[in-house]
Amino acid sequence: MTQDVAWYVTLILIGLLSVIFITAIGSTASTTNAAELAKRAYAPRGKIFWGLLLAGVIITVATLTPWPHSASATHTPARVVDVMAAQWRWEMNEQQFSVGEPLEFRVQSKDVNHGFAIYDQDMTILAQIQAMPGYTNVLRHTFNTPGQYKILCMEFCGVAHHSMITTLTVLPANN
Ligand code: CUA
Repeated sequence: MTQDVAWYVTLILIGLLSVIFITAIGSTASTTNAAELAKRAYAPRGKIFWGLLLAGVIITVATLTPWPHSASATHTPARVVDVMAAQWRWEMNEQQFSVGEPLEFRVQSKDVNHGFAIYDQDMTILAQIQAMPGYTNVLRHTFNTPGQYKILCMEFCGVAHHSMITTLTVLPANN
């Protein structure tokens, strides 16, 4: 959904840039006075600056709320799950969870970079984070539906990269 919107916005912006570019090429041949040309070109700069600034502020404010920052500020104690990636397996201290349980995956790697990605039954990606040697990356996720979920590696990490798969079980909420 978000990817679709981003894709269409990108397409529209590319189209807009192309129109500006083609118009600029077309108009250069007809103008000879360089000073006059510069004056005309610089005239809308103030308006463009304030317009972009305003757009930046609006976009920032509008997109800030769904960030994970607001989720982490709720102080819900999350269940910590230690994840260690290695060529070519996932080592996890827990693989069975409950619906609605806030989880905090602490993801590390023993050797090279891997990608820790959670997929649902339709193989739609739900959440992902890099597994890096020497760092602990934190991924927070809460499952809404019971069932089996797959963990796949998203970073090419060697000959058996494709076999870095494990399964998580999510049980219905227990109360
Ligand atoms: Cu681990 Cu690809």
